[in-house]
Amino acid sequence: MFIKRFLLTQYGLRCYLCQHRSKSTVGHQKTTTVLGQSYEVDPWTNVSPAILEKIGMNLHSQKYHPICLIRQRIQDFFYKRFTKRGNPIFSVFDNESPVVSLKQNFDNLLVPENHPSRNQADSYYLNSAYMLRAHCTAHQQDFIRAGLNSFLIVGDVYRRDTVDSSHYPVFHQLDGVRLFDKHDLFEERVSQPDALQLFDDTKHSALNQAGHAIEATLAVQHDLKSTLEDMATILFGKDIETQWVDAYFPFTHPSWELEIKYQDKWLEVLGCGVIQQQILNKSGAGSKVGWAFGMGLERLAMKLYDIPDIRLFWSKDQRFLDQFRVDDPHSNIQFKPFSIHPPCDIDLSFWIPEMFQENDFYDLVRSLGGNIVEKVELIDVYTYTKLKRTSHCYRITYRHPDRVMEKVEADAITKKIAAEASTKLNVKLR
Ligand code: PHE
Repeated sequence: MFIKRFLLTQYGLRCYLCQHRSKSTVGHQKTTTVLGQSYEVDPWTNVSPAILEKIGMNLHSQKYHPICLIRQRIQDFFYKRFTKRGNPIFSVFDNESPVVSLKQNFDNLLVPENHPSRNQADSYYLNSAYMLRAHCTAHQQDFIRAGLNSFLIVGDVYRRDTVDSSHYPVFHQLDGVRLFDKHDLFEERVSQPDALQLFDDTKHSALNQAGHAIEATLAVQHDLKSTLEDMATILFGKDIETQWVDAYFPFTHPSWELEIKYQDKWLEVLGCGVIQQQILNKSGAGSKVGWAFGMGLERLAMKLYDIPDIRLFWSKDQRFLDQFRVDDPHSNIQFKPFSIHPPCDIDLSFWIPEMFQENDFYDLVRSLGGNIVEKVELIDVYTYTKLKRTSHCYRITYRHPDRVMEKVEADAITKKIAAEASTKLNVKLR
């Protein structure tokens, strides 16, 4: 999210929530309630009821759910690897509310004011002060401030995105943080730890932050990379090939992404780096240095268990869930598809207004079509230069998990989508 989203432009403010209310609702909704808390609706509000329904489902804590199994495997790895007198030193937090302030999601993490990830087109806002977290890193500073040195945060995160088999507006992440004082960092690694420093006057470079001694950066980097490589081995087996790619995140420097070779393709599995000292200084941990990483669990689970479509994680179908009923989370499971009913494709074309955001349309399709929508693809863009008008043609792929999707049924949903798109998004149907 923090490196790839620079193409989007800011767009107009409007009340999206009210637009999704049924027609019978009279008046303007002034607040929206999430987990018992009310939030004033304002022009930043863009959460839809379909998204709010997902809050509290906590797939990462549902026993036997594949997202929970994979989280248990990672958690076990951290418990076993890092111990003090035989006890795990990592604490795990899996029950933080997904509603966070913009300060938690962005400012605390040094995300610049004009960073594209702050756009309404990319994140779900309850209003101009609160949002659904776009990453679990949003809680990092709070836990550091509370005095924790080693912790994992697991939770549901929310991002506005395209609609296809590997993107869903809600998914799960696991973040990890480890902080070191001089003693923690050097004692096990070198014979004369006292000769080494965490901080000195080293200048900023691609390899380290200003003020971090080179030996400290390298030791943190080594601990981080070896930990995450070992975690990849625990998940994917000892023969898994991995590679490190330089990356950028506002809250770490240097930063990397870990890729694994899976079925002959490099697949990005996580982002990580050395925590920006400014964050530690502001959180009462200025005498320490540390690393952080964050990764999406669906993507890992899809590879690990051969799950072909991200919507399946939300399935209540026992034919899906029963395949993961294992008491040992380390069991090998290969998902066997139980339904491959044929899809039904319908194309929809319209002229777009000046302030059009594709993510608004994807959200609308998800809200009205639910999980029957497998994919939405922009298949044609046509600009009529004379009239300065642009038309988009989207192909909506419907597929029912349990039965054949009838064309009439798909047509009826598409009709509703078309009607809402023209009233709510101001498109002109062709
Ligand atoms: N929060 C980042 C993301 O969602 C991942 C990350 C976490 C990167 C911690 C570095 C450190 O993309």
